[in-house]
Amino acid sequence: MDHFTYRQGILHAEGVPLPGIAASVGTPFYVYSAATLRRHFQVFDEALHGMEHLVCYAVKANSNIAVLKLLGDMGAGMDVVSAGEYRRARAAGVPGERIVFSGVGKTREEMRIAVAASLGVEVPVTLRINPDVDAKTHEKIATGKSENKFGIPLAKALYAYGETAKQANLRVVGIDVHIGSQLTDLAPYRAAYTKVAELAEMLRAEGHEISRLDLGGGLGIPYEATNDAPPLPAEYGDVVRDTLGHLGCEIEIEPGRLIAGNAGLMVARVIYVKQGAGRKFLILDAAMNDLVRPAMYEAHHDIVPVAAPAPGAPQEPYDIVGPVCETGDTFARGRNMTAVSADDLIAFRSAGAYGAVMASEYNSRPLIPEVLVDGEQFAVIRRRPSFEDMIAREAVPAWL
Ligand code: LLP
Repeated sequence: MDHFTYRQGILHAEGVPLPGIAASVGTPFYVYSAATLRRHFQVFDEALHGMEHLVCYAVKANSNIAVLKLLGDMGAGMDVVSAGEYRRARAAGVPGERIVFSGVGKTREEMRIAVAASLGVEVPVTLRINPDVDAKTHEKIATGKSENKFGIPLAKALYAYGETAKQANLRVVGIDVHIGSQLTDLAPYRAAYTKVAELAEMLRAEGHEISRLDLGGGLGIPYEATNDAPPLPAEYGDVVRDTLGHLGCEIEIEPGRLIAGNAGLMVARVIYVKQGAGRKFLILDAAMNDLVRPAMYEAHHDIVPVAAPAPGAPQEPYDIVGPVCETGDTFARGRNMTAVSADDLIAFRSAGAYGAVMASEYNSRPLIPEVLVDGEQFAVIRRRPSFEDMIAREAVPAWL
């Protein structure tokens, strides 16, 4: 559920009409709903009731420091995967004790930054294991199969824990697992967490402290209004309770997409409608560099007009594309929409996660701004850089 609804025929973010934001910041832009972010965090927090737990928001999904502060102020921890994300979490006021540094390859420098405050003391660690479970999601975002680059194979786990326990500055406190993203079925979680429970018993028998289980993120969101809804966080919480509750561990989870995904839209303007040979192209001022998910994962985003169409208005198929010079710059093919014309505003739903964070300046298109709405108010939380800003980062050598 989200807080983007039509009021008097105009799509609003909470109490704010989108055309007003477009007039103020220009298009394209991202807009996030504070109420939706808060609600999604709460739903997860409640899903783990009865177990000691910390919901560590996966910063990679949407790393704007205003979003991090909003969640951090509600008590969220943060799951970070780079020194940059760590700095953002700290800049948003999240204390180090609530930050988990995950990630596949941490450099020495990153480790130094993350443990700087605690150098000379023991660092609590969990080791990420690879449970060899098929998450049944897009192959580019599945991480729990043995052929994926992530984690320690179960067969090597005992050895890895033994070696880690010998390190003077590390204190093993638990197990970490994350099997993939946009999961729409709970069975892979149940399979993975059952293996984690068995491993926990085995490690305890060897004398290791297993008091914390970091279970990753990955619960999927409905991208299509017509979808069968994916399982709810409460149902996910029941799987955690069933498979791991008896161990009495502190549970950490790392949701990203479910918290931020449906809390954001990308709003674009139609540049013009082009009649091609047998196809109609809707050419937008947003492109694959602003929202790369369709080009990268064949991802579906619902695309809706900001001005509500008249009830029963006829629909026709459009290819919805950006102005970047490659065919991959296509958001949707043959998407049925009511008639759209140049200058109309349209909105991409479910764009709050893995949207702005994955944007680039390809074709020298400056990053688009981000706006946060809370009730009737809105603020720019990342401004659109000027062309001068963009060019000023580069330098021509004196010898050229
Ligand atoms: N924890 C770890 C260790 C992760 O690698 C990830 C996501 C998460 C938590 C958060 O997963 P979530 O709850 O957001 O599914 N760019 C892709 C998604 C990549 C996810 C990478 N890891 C996309 O746009 O679909």
